[in-house]
Amino acid sequence: MTLRMIHGYFNEKGCITPAGGTFSAGWQSPSNIALVKYWGKKEGQVPMNPSLSMTLSKAVTRTKLSASPGGEPAGLISVNREADHPFVPKMKVLLEQLVPVIPCLSGLAIRAETENTFPHSAGIASSASGMSAFALCLLDIAVQMTHTKPSPCEWDAMASEASRMGSGSACRSVYGGFALWGKTNLVPSSGDDHAVDVSRGVHPVFLSMHDAILIVSSGKKQVSSTIGHGTMPGHPYLEGRIRQANVNTGVLLRALAGGDFEQVASVSENEALSLHALLMTAMPPIILVKPATMEIINRVQEARKGGMPVFFTLDAGANVHVLYPKDAAGPVEHFINEVLVSFCEDGRVIYDECGPGPVKLGMDLEKVPQ
Ligand code: PMV
Repeated sequence: MTLRMIHGYFNEKGCITPAGGTFSAGWQSPSNIALVKYWGKKEGQVPMNPSLSMTLSKAVTRTKLSASPGGEPAGLISVNREADHPFVPKMKVLLEQLVPVIPCLSGLAIRAETENTFPHSAGIASSASGMSAFALCLLDIAVQMTHTKPSPCEWDAMASEASRMGSGSACRSVYGGFALWGKTNLVPSSGDDHAVDVSRGVHPVFLSMHDAILIVSSGKKQVSSTIGHGTMPGHPYLEGRIRQANVNTGVLLRALAGGDFEQVASVSENEALSLHALLMTAMPPIILVKPATMEIINRVQEARKGGMPVFFTLDAGANVHVLYPKDAAGPVEHFINEVLVSFCEDGRVIYDECGPGPVKLGMDLEKVPQ
């Protein structure tokens, strides 16, 4: 059973479907950037190692769903009124995983409207924000149909569990601040089914950390993360990688708690470079970094050696996330503009920061006052 929380909650809960009624839900959900990387998975979207991420603030997906019981045909019908929108296949997979554990969702004709605040090609994980926004909407509709009210803890765990089935990293986006996914003895509440919020143990300096995303290449990624994860079983460095991620998770949690910027910087950079080392040493090799990626990395490391509080991380792509404390935004952003922007495609930088997590929206996609 890969959806334990959701199964436990919705099991045997009947749904109330008013004749001719339509259910609707809207959610905004952010992307996140992993400092300890999830890399490699087992069947059922189970991670091979724990991962730890910072939730972003401005890079969000806004999604609204309308669902009509007894509609023909049932299932996800369109995204932005297009039946063949590129999101449809991935969203359909998520819906198909949820229907057996939330029977209410079967037989619904679902239409989705969705928008990203960031360009698709920006190298920001749109699957994390997109899949979590969709999962939150589906869960919201299921709760309406069953006339139930999960506790905030139940809601978060179920939203994370559902998001995970769409995209592993999406399960961390349902929490603001910092989230951990994957079983580790370091955090007793952790598990593989859903992420947990670890922000309470994080020093305030990191809860307002900034992330400038330097766009080196906006072209479509050569290799999808699914193919990337698929290189890990049988990878010659697999065992070492799992050990390293577990050690790095512990070091990072302690450094985040203690406000130790230097340690957070070195662990995060080690994780980013390890991810790309694993990609490069896969068979066949996958090389995603570009010369400009390395130029930026070198300069960020030199700047830190010179006393500037700044570090980098990478996703599975060429773009570079440059992280720094809010207090240092003046000098670091000056450095980005003067030195790093010249390595970016068309000088593109997206400025983001640590954020508060998902927000419930009205049908006009405006924030619902709490
Ligand atoms: O969630 P996926 O399957 O797109 O995998 C994401 C993998 C990385 O972005 C490279 C790392 C991570 O933990 O987000």
